[in-house]
Amino acid sequence: MAAINPLKTMKQDRADQDLDSLRSEGDLNLSPRRAAWAADHLDEATQALLDEDARYFLHQSLSTPCLNVLRACDGVYIEDYQGRRIMDFHGNWVHQVGFRNPRVIAAITEQLQTLPFCTRRYTNVPAIDLAKKLTALAPGALNKVLFAPGGALAMGMALKLARLATGRFKTISMWDAFHGASLDVISIGGEAIFRRGIGPLLPGAEHVPPPNPSHCPFGCERTCSLKCAEYIDYVLEKEGDVAAVVAETVRSTPYIPPPEYWQIVREACDRHGALLILDEIPHALGRTGTMFTCEHYGVVPDILVIGKGLGGGIFPLAAMIAREDLDVARDRALGHYTHEKNPVACAAALAAIHFLEEENILAHTRTLGAWTLDQMRAMMERHPLIGDVRGLGLMLGMELVKDRATMEGASEAAEEVMYRALSRGLSFKLTMGNILLLVPALTINQDEMAQALGILETCIAEVEVDAALLDA
Ligand SMILES: Cc1ncc(COP(=O)(O)O)c(C=O)c1O
Repeated sequence: MAAINPLKTMKQDRADQDLDSLRSEGDLNLSPRRAAWAADHLDEATQALLDEDARYFLHQSLSTPCLNVLRACDGVYIEDYQGRRIMDFHGNWVHQVGFRNPRVIAAITEQLQTLPFCTRRYTNVPAIDLAKKLTALAPGALNKVLFAPGGALAMGMALKLARLATGRFKTISMWDAFHGASLDVISIGGEAIFRRGIGPLLPGAEHVPPPNPSHCPFGCERTCSLKCAEYIDYVLEKEGDVAAVVAETVRSTPYIPPPEYWQIVREACDRHGALLILDEIPHALGRTGTMFTCEHYGVVPDILVIGKGLGGGIFPLAAMIAREDLDVARDRALGHYTHEKNPVACAAALAAIHFLEEENILAHTRTLGAWTLDQMRAMMERHPLIGDVRGLGLMLGMELVKDRATMEGASEAAEEVMYRALSRGLSFKLTMGNILLLVPALTINQDEMAQALGILETCIAEVEVDAALLDA
């Protein structure tokens, strides 16, 4: 593969810094490394399809022009148009039960034969069964649901419900957070790539620093002092009329707050009359080794939002699960989405949840996640490029740094590792520019995981050698 020379001019450095501020959500398709990878790996037929895609789709920096063309997927793998099988450690977080899960496919196929759509004003058995199942699984008094065809829409419903229930409109959410790409929820999100240059966002959307001890504005160094949680209490007090604190329970980077974090925020919300809305769209249904991530913290939000893998890795489906006494909008429309009770999506969700339960996937996720994190810790001892490794269940992250003392991100090295790994059959995405985000299907076994870690370590070692040669 043609390597990109990391010795750059100052002009290139400046251009890279501009790109850096846009890299929080993922690796960008504008990068020269993307072009080099494509030139080395894609044949004419694939390139022609990519050109056609780019001809008809509006371009955006995280999708079109696309990286490659897929033709199949199963279990842990995706397969590209040239027949390469690639372990997908990204999967947009929909693949808890593995790609093309046979039980989900069977449920969908059966549902398609009878009631593939449900006209509004009517209900259907899969929708009722799914509502019953989710409220039974959810902690505390989270006993009412609304479905939507996507996570951003469900987050929008949660914001509307919080306004109606509290009579307030302000929110506190976190810098660097992502809650979806629509205009309402980019206001509470904190990523430049979605917010910059788009015009006025929702009023009253205050932002606070996320719990991230290695880059903490309160001066924490590696160990969270919980000052960021106390700061939320402070802002709630000063504003006085905040409708809701909105956050991902565990940021997908992953930033994993200490156990007391959510208890402090929960108590602060209660003291100041604000609701707590937890966004578990990518993580609920097993990713972190529990059905819902808030279970790790022993807190119950007022509104829990889930999505992504809820549709069994096939259907777009999300849900807002709210406290029973928040059923206060009967004369309004919170959702009103055409596919709100889609029977096929609900049948897929039920099959996915039954699969997780019957195959004991949560226990497997905890065990394999702990084993993998141990392997990653050992890898960190061998490689100075790795500044930190962290994870919960099978949501794992590896932070590449130029210097462990300063934790300055090694974005160039991270991108190089990512494309080298892809060439060897392992796909993952980057977040914050320098964090390798490792999110496999929860059905992955230990041998497959060992194989993936082997690819990763080879690539990291190669990039370290390249960097050493250039420094010499
Ligand atoms: C934390 C979080 N919230 C919300 C969303 C938005 O979900 P959707 O893409 O289904 O709108 C995402 C999607 O990546 C997410 O990761």
